[in-house]
Amino acid sequence: MIYTIVIFGASGDLTRRKLIPALYELHRKKRLPGALLIVGMARTEYSHDQWREILKEACMAQVGKHFDPTLWEEFARNIYYHPGDVSRAECFPELDQFVSELENHQPSTRIYYLALAPEFYECTVAHLGAAGMAVESSGPRRIVVEKPFGRDRESARQLNAKIHEVFAEHQIYRIDHYLGKETVANVLVLRFANTIFEPIWNRNYVDHIQITAAEDLPIGRRASFYESAGILRDMFQNHLLQLLTLTAMEPPSRVNADDIRDEKVKVLRAVRPFTPADVAANTVRGQYRKYRDEPNVPPNSQTATFGVVKLYVDNWRWQGVPFYLRSGKAMSCRTTQIVIQFREPPHMMFEGGPKHIHEANRLVLQIQPAEGIQIHFQTKVPDAGMKMRLTDLDFNFREKFAGEMPEAYERLLLDVMIGDPSLFARADEVELAWGIIDPIQQVWDAGGPPQLELYEAGGWGPPYSEEWMQRQGRRWFNVC
Ligand code: BG6
Repeated sequence: MIYTIVIFGASGDLTRRKLIPALYELHRKKRLPGALLIVGMARTEYSHDQWREILKEACMAQVGKHFDPTLWEEFARNIYYHPGDVSRAECFPELDQFVSELENHQPSTRIYYLALAPEFYECTVAHLGAAGMAVESSGPRRIVVEKPFGRDRESARQLNAKIHEVFAEHQIYRIDHYLGKETVANVLVLRFANTIFEPIWNRNYVDHIQITAAEDLPIGRRASFYESAGILRDMFQNHLLQLLTLTAMEPPSRVNADDIRDEKVKVLRAVRPFTPADVAANTVRGQYRKYRDEPNVPPNSQTATFGVVKLYVDNWRWQGVPFYLRSGKAMSCRTTQIVIQFREPPHMMFEGGPKHIHEANRLVLQIQPAEGIQIHFQTKVPDAGMKMRLTDLDFNFREKFAGEMPEAYERLLLDVMIGDPSLFARADEVELAWGIIDPIQQVWDAGGPPQLELYEAGGWGPPYSEEWMQRQGRRWFNVC
């Protein structure tokens, strides 16, 4: 079978920095399921060779020592460029003809990748439909939609409806690149391929859960996009809620796309809806001090670059257990982690034993960049009476498994090719996630409360976030 990936928005950053390097890596590792053709479309006029040269430079920069000129030549032979404008319907029959000729009019699996600005999603889909390019008579036809998928529940619903006019749900792959990260997939393996964690993975033993995605970089060049998004839309609606679902979901009976996604959807449905009073009490919003100096940011911008959302999953397993979701730009370091904070032992018989919840057992799932798992527990300090100290067992993926962690896009692109949507968001999942975020965003947009707290770059967000946590008798796990 021939696999053809048609990239709309081919001249953009995503294609150069993520898609082509991931496809090159799949070629290098001989993981591609069959012959691959790549066709890029954008408005800029390039020849095939000009485009190949641009991609070569970018790929070299991304894959570093894995770049092999001979392998690249082999790979690049199947890359083509077809100039065109997605907003013009007549470009699509031309494109179809171009691709069909490359495919020698043979059956193929075709993947249409929307690496475009979101305002072009709907017209591209409609034009693909009008040109008959979504019909599966000569092989599967799939569409990959990048984030952001809408900007609230209503727009996500409309976008789903528009795409469903042309593509059936089984043809649609909504990307959340966090789901392609090895350590994110490992959350399910840790929970459901072991016996020792699951019995205590519930309200009887867990005090609370912290999910943090911190980034050290400021917004920089992306400010004009970021101004209209903010941290809730950019990180919470997708990545953080995805991490929440994997942490909180029930075990599916089989590993298949619908069973997994059904369980994730149940978690989203069980999240307690936010009233304005909950938003005031259970969220924190912040902005790093220099944000307003970034190019294209108005001097009075109220856009949050930091956020905390405390939510509850109202079901049998999690009743009363707070989930703290936190993300921010310009923070102390880049780290994504899930912290399961267990309860204190019911009775402390040792004098000098742990007195605070943060000294109780803790399981830390390091998603990135130090991919690993740590279990924190009390041990006796030798030769010091009954003195105790919190220590840890530390597992590190890179040390244990020689070799490197693949980029998320490798796994995701491969899954689209073989037709496995398990790691992609389903229509209902995306809409439910927006339904959780929308009421918070509305209150924040209206000026709160909570008020916007300013913070210095290089820390863990506004000092208020620490005080707020302490008032609940808890502490943030601020470890890089
Ligand atoms: C993107 C956001 O989806 O994820 C960015 O738009 C963010 O703002 C990025 O920086 C983080 O991804 P990663 O893989 O670097 O954690």
